Amino acid sequence: TKAKMALDKEFVISEIDPRLYGSFIEHLGRAVYGGVYEPGHPTADEHGFRQDVIDLVKELQVPIVRYPGGNMVSAYNWEDGVGPKENRPRRLELAWRVIETNQVGTNEFMDWAKKANTEVMMAVNLGTRGIDAARNLLEYCNHPGGTYWSDLRKEHGYKDPHNIKTWCLGNEMDGPWQVGQKTAHEYGRLAAETAKAMRLVDPSIELVSCGSSNSDMPTFPEWEATTLDHTYDYVDFISLHQYYGNRSNDTANYLAKSMDMENFIQTVISTCDYIKAKKRSKKTINLSFDEWNVWFHSNQQDKEIEPWSIAPPQLEDVYTFEDALLVGSLLNAMLRHADRVKMAAMAQLVNVIAPIMTETGGGVWKQSIFYPYYYTSVYGRGVALNPVVTSPKYDSKDFTDVPYLDSSVVYNEEKEELVIFATNRHLENTLSVDIDIRSFEGFEVVEHVVLENEDAKAINTLQNEQVKPHNKGESYNDGGKLVGILPKFSWNMIRLK
Ligand code: AHR
Repeated sequence: TKAKMALDKEFVISEIDPRLYGSFIEHLGRAVYGGVYEPGHPTADEHGFRQDVIDLVKELQVPIVRYPGGNMVSAYNWEDGVGPKENRPRRLELAWRVIETNQVGTNEFMDWAKKANTEVMMAVNLGTRGIDAARNLLEYCNHPGGTYWSDLRKEHGYKDPHNIKTWCLGNEMDGPWQVGQKTAHEYGRLAAETAKAMRLVDPSIELVSCGSSNSDMPTFPEWEATTLDHTYDYVDFISLHQYYGNRSNDTANYLAKSMDMENFIQTVISTCDYIKAKKRSKKTINLSFDEWNVWFHSNQQDKEIEPWSIAPPQLEDVYTFEDALLVGSLLNAMLRHADRVKMAAMAQLVNVIAPIMTETGGGVWKQSIFYPYYYTSVYGRGVALNPVVTSPKYDSKDFTDVPYLDSSVVYNEEKEELVIFATNRHLENTLSVDIDIRSFEGFEVVEHVVLENEDAKAINTLQNEQVKPHNKGESYNDGGKLVGILPKFSWNMIRLK
């Protein structure tokens, strides 16, 4: 099977904001307790942070991590998580119906982020709380000193402000499952007023307004239009969340689901720009796709968890080979919209629907989805180019005209490097792609990484890594042309210099 692609240095979509490769840690399951934090673990440092986990987070070069929720933030008292650990209250955590010990809170997480070489995207509680708690938390984190909350931070051992730049105004406030769910007007008003107050505390921050919890919500995209009508002048981003699954075990249809993500992105862009027009505004709202991933494997087992335990395993999806292919395509979809999707967060980072898994007290391993995330994060920096693609197509249960070739292209001028990320969705045939690289004279293939597997359901465990890439891809230069050889049912990275 054959496809074609034309690339040019001039076909620029946009500079890629590195925050596109962000991730997410929620106080949920074993993400914090048993994931990033496990005092007594053989690799734990003096703060109790697992070094083996930090090493993998650094390997992924995660630029920003959303924290502390998620659903959890909507009933969270941030004050419970600061100050001497022995005084911190144990609370009923309502989102996941567990006990929160508060042994990790804002300051510990900032310490962890520093060690993991990442920034924090902090969420405030707009479920049970509002303007006051949000502005106090911001004062505690970012104000230099000489006021009640900033001096309290100093008293807690943090002389310098944390200077957190990016803030989420609540989480999924349209969701019936959310503690303190709001109507679009209620949320829009509250978010606008909270944003105003927060900007008065620290004008340098960036704010993310909650979009719909997912594109299947009955109020999507009216929620976006109504809330932005209130928040437009006070926020910088609107959030998107979406999770995918292969519930009907239909691989061809599953691999096409990145098209759904792309539709979702396009609709949110249109809605933002409609409000821009309505307001005669010069300002453009960008997109923060701050929860995205595959999530469905663990749904059944999560129903059996006893309430009010401490850090039980929750949302521990074990990812398959085909999940990794979809994750690669989801990243491609965002890169193709790098002009508007400026931030994103793979949800989540450790143990909870995550690329990194740990055994409490034991080792750490990479799930299948680690690999496309790793390569795209590490090599997908620079400008996103718009490849002109001609590919044969197929129809699946929910999609028509699905191109077998799914791709994104990144040019890193500093490193003089051209990187093509490509999924071959064909389950039986190799895809041979004629790639016109006219403006990249002299560029040659330095590496062609392939993720392939005979078994769509192959998984990784601590003992056995069945899904891992090799770099024996067979792409080659042919005169001024590049021939990309994409094995059947595979994810690929072709790197040229
Ligand atoms: O990431 C898991 C959960 O999914 C988050 O807490 C919530 O925001 C979303 O519904």
